[in-house]
Amino acid sequence: MDKPVRLALLGCGTVGSEVLRLLHEQATDLTARVGAPIEIAGIAVRRPNRARGGLPVDPALFTTDALGLIKRDDVDVVVEVVGGIEPARGWLVEALRGGKSVVTANKALLAEDGGTLHDAAAEGGADLYYEASVAGAIPLLRPLRESLHGDSITRVTGIVNGTTNFILSGMDATGAGFAETLEQATALGYAEADPTADVEGFDAAAKAAILASLAFHSRVGAADVHREGITEVSAADMASAQEMGCTIKLLCIAERGPDASGAESVSVRVHPAMIPRSHPLASVGDAFNAVFVEAVAAGQLMFYGRGAGGAPTASAVLGDIVAVARNRLAGVRSASESSYAALPIRPMGEAVTRYHISLDVADRAGVLAAVAGVFARHDVSIATVRQSGRDTDASLVIVTHRAPDAALAATVEELRGLDIVRSIASVLRVEGDH
Ligand code: NDP
Ligand code: HSE
Repeated sequence: MDKPVRLALLGCGTVGSEVLRLLHEQATDLTARVGAPIEIAGIAVRRPNRARGGLPVDPALFTTDALGLIKRDDVDVVVEVVGGIEPARGWLVEALRGGKSVVTANKALLAEDGGTLHDAAAEGGADLYYEASVAGAIPLLRPLRESLHGDSITRVTGIVNGTTNFILSGMDATGAGFAETLEQATALGYAEADPTADVEGFDAAAKAAILASLAFHSRVGAADVHREGITEVSAADMASAQEMGCTIKLLCIAERGPDASGAESVSVRVHPAMIPRSHPLASVGDAFNAVFVEAVAAGQLMFYGRGAGGAPTASAVLGDIVAVARNRLAGVRSASESSYAALPIRPMGEAVTRYHISLDVADRAGVLAAVAGVFARHDVSIATVRQSGRDTDASLVIVTHRAPDAALAATVEELRGLDIVRSIASVLRVEGDH
């Protein structure tokens, strides 16, 4: 049996405490799987004297000096479950440059500045693993960075935020509006007291950047992701989706394809979209996550499971700990970051999809023709039109064929300027075959 692999655990909150519990409960199996015991050298937290409800660790292991812990000679692997950009970035760069492998769940940092971490890992000859950063327990990053490396991924479509999926699934089931459903999600503990990162799509955008980087062998950051949240999705939008045999999900979509000049590029976006009920992602309910991967040879693959929570996220962290510990004992390092393709980011205006537009118009002769004329002028082809009258006004619901986002935006802008258009109630993208 080799000498123990010693961990510095940074953070002991929702995820960190479950990592400790699993390390303790599964110690015998983990030792057998790794080939050496895994020991905790120290645990860095903000409040070392806080009561931590029967955690199976010696209280003397707690410290506020994360950097001092990382630099200790008896630390082999650094596990970061604190979150945020700083001081986590400084800690992890220090660890990696010093040759210590890192396991992290920090999606915000990886999306903000993953390149710096990968460079530090290469410099120090250390491993950087981050399975828990996207979709919690779901084994997803390892398949992208290893199993599918012989294939060519064309598209990744995912539901990667549990909070928003819980809210949209609730709106679909009850017919209630966004605010009311968010209140319920908060009361049930599914949404945080400040839900901004989730409902405005920041959390999903960070995950989209990580997925796109791995899928397309390019460095994609949070700033490259077009982001829209779900706060504007109304009960009327959901009812309209239902009438079309659809539901609404917050999707992260990363796809490769030619840009306007024909050069290969990557488009990454997060926004609510209608998807047909027959789409595999439509049945993903509650706070579950699912990611649909399309590759040239493999075809369509679906990954599904719990995307958050202490134990599910700790499961992914533990898998990474075992992998880096084995590498350490074998004196090897996993393949480094693959960003050789360095594909440019395609502007959102060139993203092509279908659209569902609801507008209130005057109900008189020539109105439909005028509205249709605006779509035609911007080369946006109409697939279906549904009209319901109300006195002198009418509601129009128009669904288009596939068109570039910029063309649709110009269409909506011109419609807004027409005196026959009272208001544009909503514009939603429509994804998936229908
Ligand atoms: P928590 O807020 O529950 O825990 C954060 C921990 O970090 C606490 O132990 C806190 O110490 C410690 N900490 C905070 N600031 C410092 C500091 N300056 N120095 C030392 N320690 C510090 O976070 P989570 O466990 O929920 O999340 C951790 C990471 O995992 C984040 O990156 C998150 O995005 C990611 N993640 C979380 C998921 C989840 O479901 N919770 C799912 C997937 C990823 P103290 O205990 O003393 O307050
Ligand atoms: N807030 C995130 C979610 C946690 O709702 O999915 C996991 O990253």
